[in-house]
Formats: sequence, C-alpha cells, structure tokens
Amino acid sequence: MHKQIATLFETQFEKDVYKGLTDYPKHLSSKYFYDAKGDKLFQDIMHMPEYYLTDCEFEILDEYKQEITDLFTLGNPNFNLIELGAGDGKKTKILLKHLSEKNIDFTYQPIDISQNVLNQLENSLQEELLDVQVKTQQGTYFEALERINSNNGTKKVILFLGSNIGNLLHQQAIEFLQRVQKLMHEDDLFFVGFDQKKDPQTILDAYNDKSGITEAFNKNLLTRINNEMEADFNLDEFLHWEVYDPETGIAKSYLVSKKEQSVWIEKLRLKIEFRAWETIHTEISQKYDDRTVQWLAEKSGLQIENVFVDSKGYYKNYVFKKRC
Ligand code: AVI
Repeated sequence: MHKQIATLFETQFEKDVYKGLTDYPKHLSSKYFYDAKGDKLFQDIMHMPEYYLTDCEFEILDEYKQEITDLFTLGNPNFNLIELGAGDGKKTKILLKHLSEKNIDFTYQPIDISQNVLNQLENSLQEELLDVQVKTQQGTYFEALERINSNNGTKKVILFLGSNIGNLLHQQAIEFLQRVQKLMHEDDLFFVGFDQKKDPQTILDAYNDKSGITEAFNKNLLTRINNEMEADFNLDEFLHWEVYDPETGIAKSYLVSKKEQSVWIEKLRLKIEFRAWETIHTEISQKYDDRTVQWLAEKSGLQIENVFVDSKGYYKNYVFKKRC
C-alpha cells in the first residue's frame, strides 16, 4: 500500500502534504508559505506596524553599524560576508553601505535557494551599492557554505537575520547551529537575530493583524495546494488562529476548520475529512531569552561573543564564535 502511494509523489511538497494531512493532529510546514505570492505577503507583513521584528533589527543594524564593523574586522580585516536566506537584503544594505563607506575589504555572498531572488538582489545592489563586491551563491545553505569553504580560506562572517531561526523547534535549531558550527573556522563569526520574549499581547498582535495579511499568508498554504495539486479547499471555511505560550516562548499558527467538511486533492487522489473545529498546525515562531540562547549555543559548540539589542529590548542579535 505504502509503496504504491510513494510512487505517486512527484515533489517533496506533495509527500509532505500527504503525510501532514493524514496525520492526527494535522500539520503542514511553514516552509511551504513561500511561493511568489507568499514572498509578497511576507514583504507586506514586514511593513505592518504590528510586526515589530523588522524595525527592531533595522534599528540595531543602524545604531550599532560601527561597533558591528569593528567586530567583523577585528584581527583580520578581510572577510566574506555570507548571508543565509538573503531575501531582498533591505536590512543587510545598511551594513553593506557602511562597510563600503569605511573601505572595508569584503565580498558579500548571499545564499538563497531561488536564483530569481538572487538576481533581483544583485540588480538592486548594482543600482544602490556599486562598490560592493557581490558573489551570489545559489543552493541550500549547507551546499553553498561547503562550496565557499572549499574555494578559499578567507574569514567568514555569516549572517542569519530576521529571527528565521525561530521557525525551528529547539532540537531542529540545535541541529542547524551544529551544522553551521562544523563549517566554521576559529576566526569566523556567526551573527544571528533572535526575537525575544515580551508582553504576550505584543507577540500575539504581530501574528494576528487586523488587516488580515497574516491570515492570507497562513492560508496561502491552502491556495498553493489548490493550485499545485488541484485541490478544492474553500479558504472561507478556515480560520487563521494564533496562540502564544509565554512559558515556552512559542507562538503557534493554525488553520481551523469552521465546520465538518471534506476536501479533495486530485493530484494525490486523496480525500481529507475535517471535523468541525479540527486544526492544521502550520508554523511555530519561537521567542527567546538569554538563558535559552546560551543553552542553544552550548549544545551547538558555539560561544556568545557579543549581543546587540534594540531600544525597546524586543529583539537581539547575538554574535557567536566556534567554541575551541
Ligand atoms: C520568517 N519568519 C521569521 C516569520 C516569523 O516571524 O515567524 C514568518 C512569519 N509568520 C507570520 N508572520 C511572519
């Protein structure tokens, strides 16, 4: 039975949709939010007043750009600035501009799975920051990091911004940090954004905006399944629901079926039954405190070199080194 089903799947997305919607409780991975429409919705989220994360990290990079430059150039002024999941590079451009104005000898190497994203970023950098040397790296983070490592021994400063780490459960985050740690050398730095625990209402509001952008972002998962697998999800029959647990620091997103209903996914030849108020868990956005980040670092063979925080204390960028 399973073997027959396995041969049906053309993509990992199809396989994960099958597994997630036949499990109990149901779940889908937030990594599938991001098609062209999802990318655009996430851009809109980053502009929402409720989604404080972007402004806070922007403030940190702007306020501390000289201190960050000093840290990056300490001991060895020449480095590769590698960004994991570069996106539109809006925040990184503050640093790039400052480094370039200070005549620092560096090459910017944004890594992204999408060549399209990298092309757009490269074009915008050519217009705005002509002096910055850019070498885009298409591929997964680890493929690209390994490629960069084998090409030369130049010091690496690795950026992982936007609290992207927060979309991983602690165990997954540890595995991720360990893999990066293995590819780091003694002088390399790892600069990571971690959204902090704060007033739970502030966090809930960031993931539950009144304008409905986050709802559309969450429901884009169903739109993708409709479009790519010929399914018949009726988006109006699902609620976007957000919860935040101030003890664990986990914000969780759900899609909740408003009634008993069934959905047909033609490409998987699969009928999914929903009971009234049954859930699909779609995303976690982990919030941190110093103790938790310290613990993650210890588990991953990293040590914290420096911490930068915004004026409200909402968000922190930690700088890690390999623990030798
Ligand atoms: C990309 N990631 C860090 C965002 C977050 O805050 O978890 C994705 C997001 N989901 C809803 N709003 C934004």
